[in-house]
Amino acid sequence: VLVDLLLVGFGHVGRRFARLLEERRAALARTEALEPRVVGVATRRHGAALAPAGLDLKEALARVEAGRRLEDLHDETTGPAPMSGLDLIHRCAQGRGGEAPWVVVETTWLDVQTGGPAVAHVRAALASGAHVVTANKGPVAVAYRELRALAEARDRAFLFEGAVMDGVPVFNLVRETLPGVEIRGFRGVINATTNYILTALEEGQPFERALADMQAAGIAEADPSLDLDGWDAAAKTAALANVWLDADLTPARIARAGIAPATAAEARAALAGGERLRLVARAARRGPTVEAEVALIRLPADDLLAGLRGLANALVIETDLLGEVAIVQMGGGLTQTAYALLSDLVAVTRRLRAPGRAPRGQSP
Ligand code: HSE
Repeated sequence: VLVDLLLVGFGHVGRRFARLLEERRAALARTEALEPRVVGVATRRHGAALAPAGLDLKEALARVEAGRRLEDLHDETTGPAPMSGLDLIHRCAQGRGGEAPWVVVETTWLDVQTGGPAVAHVRAALASGAHVVTANKGPVAVAYRELRALAEARDRAFLFEGAVMDGVPVFNLVRETLPGVEIRGFRGVINATTNYILTALEEGQPFERALADMQAAGIAEADPSLDLDGWDAAAKTAALANVWLDADLTPARIARAGIAPATAAEARAALAGGERLRLVARAARRGPTVEAEVALIRLPADDLLAGLRGLANALVIETDLLGEVAIVQMGGGLTQTAYALLSDLVAVTRRLRAPGRAPRGQSP
């Protein structure tokens, strides 16, 4: 299956995905009969290019990493170079005659309040007939119902495995392997930066140094207050609750806690009492409503979440038929997030081969 891709966002995640596509090209052809062709790239600071016959991806990577712009790779027979990600999506849609399927791979930055600009990209892409895979938390945390309805109306996939716990299958686990199971709630440690810092504080290490480690590793958000103040965890909680519990939440509507240098004393006190201080995200259905929060709480040492150290994350899912099911991520990073996009792309491809059977969105 020849699948055209538009890369909207070409930062660390987008570029790692581009490289992963090349690294796995032969295997994807062999095992999935998938032949991806990148036909457009839009960046925040290095311009954009559209080339319907296929774009030189290696050259695009080299240019952006050398601080150069992409316009030279643009095919001018399609008109002037696109001005933005949104423009690229619209221009690509105009030039297509309903032939090869196309997928918008969305990896732009996150505005946790509005979900933008990713929400606008996803909306435009689905409305234009593209399938969408994104590693961005914004669309699913802020506008899931609208985007799911749009995807269903247009018979397109809207997948976002990378929004929570990178490439570890969280949404896929439920969608693909737990048919007919009702999810009643979940709790988890789903922000790596704060868990790493809390572990460091327990060991008596300074807050600032632990935070600097996370920034140097590229794991903290560009604005680390999003991690420290619980926004990232709240966005992930909203995403999970919207998909699994049919909530209609946004990050701003979730009660939030965070950590600060003064948390050190609390973390040490918990440890001295045989407990562990953890930033826990939780949500549960209560009658017609869904209650969700991000809270800094003491856990008994034998709780699975208490045992998570450093970068480890985990989710405990409460189900009706299987009791509690847990999934643990020992540590994440760029390759894992890029893999989430790749696994979503494969899910789209399988759906194209077996229409009507593969994932439509994330609704059960
Ligand atoms: N800043 C996030 C974290 C990155 O620390 O978990 C992964 O979503």
